[in-house]
Amino acid sequence: MYQELAGRVAVITGAGRGIGRAEALRLAEEGVRVVVVDLSRQDAEKTAGDIGQSGGTAWPYGVNVTQADQVRNMLEETVKRWGPIGILVNNAGITRDNLIYKMEEDEWDSVMNTHLKGSFICAQACQRYMVEERWGKIVNTSSTSALGNRGQANYSAAKAGLQGFTKTLAIELGPFHINVNAVAPGFIDTDMTRATAERLGLTADGFKAAAASQIPLRRVGVPEDVANVVAFLCSEQAAFISGEVIYVRGGPAAF
Ligand SMILES: NC(=O)c1ccc[n+]([C@@H]2O[C@H](COP(=O)([O-])OP(=O)(O)OC[C@H]3O[C@@H](n4cnc5c(N)ncnc54)[C@H](O)[C@@H]3O)[C@@H](O)[C@H]2O)c1
Repeated sequence: MYQELAGRVAVITGAGRGIGRAEALRLAEEGVRVVVVDLSRQDAEKTAGDIGQSGGTAWPYGVNVTQADQVRNMLEETVKRWGPIGILVNNAGITRDNLIYKMEEDEWDSVMNTHLKGSFICAQACQRYMVEERWGKIVNTSSTSALGNRGQANYSAAKAGLQGFTKTLAIELGPFHINVNAVAPGFIDTDMTRATAERLGLTADGFKAAAASQIPLRRVGVPEDVANVVAFLCSEQAAFISGEVIYVRGGPAAF
């Protein structure tokens, strides 16, 4: 569908499962060579193995995106193997939900580090290849929680921060023909939302049904809903879109 992407090299973080895994499979369908990065090496291997099985090209890495040296080593190896990085999808994420009066400093720091610092480390390390090539696509992962969500002061601040980060990188890197955008998913059915249901004492199905009833399109999202938008943002069809935040949430919230 986006033939121009064939042969490009993409780094996708948090691609061992959930949304990142769907993004890896989707870009691989376009002939992109995918570097599957995840904290869990085993999950990264599973995604890369599945891509290989379906005729695509992928390489797994067990890397923590908050550790600059690990990210640097992974990129240096990749560039030696496949050439310059053209696409970066900053997707790795965690939640450590708590009401503000109970939130531990560690819950704040770990969420800030994973989302904000991790995206900074990966973007800074990848942009130099993109600048040299005068071609690049960076997609960051925000969330509807950026607009405010009870129990997520840390997460919503990080996800709002990523929107500012996205717009600033679009300004700085635009002159080098690098597009920088963000996707902001709403409720997407993954391990992350299943863990939230458990924390709230709800069944996964009950939680999904309650969420779907508040969404204009009357369903929750699936990882592929986000992956399709990421593929579009990396394609030439989206060549004049930069610095934007695309909400993928089945319609606006009814207040
Ligand atoms: N699921 C949703 O409803 C939803 C909504 C909005 C935004 N998001 C965002 O989308 C992204 C993916 O979410 P998901 O639902 O697929 O979550 P998930 O928990 O299913 O997957 C996240 C993946 O990121 C990896 N990861 C976490 N910390 C890492 C680190 N330091 N280094 C490398 N990998 C790391 C995990 O191992 C995991 O495989 C996250 O940024 C999340 O905040 C999700």
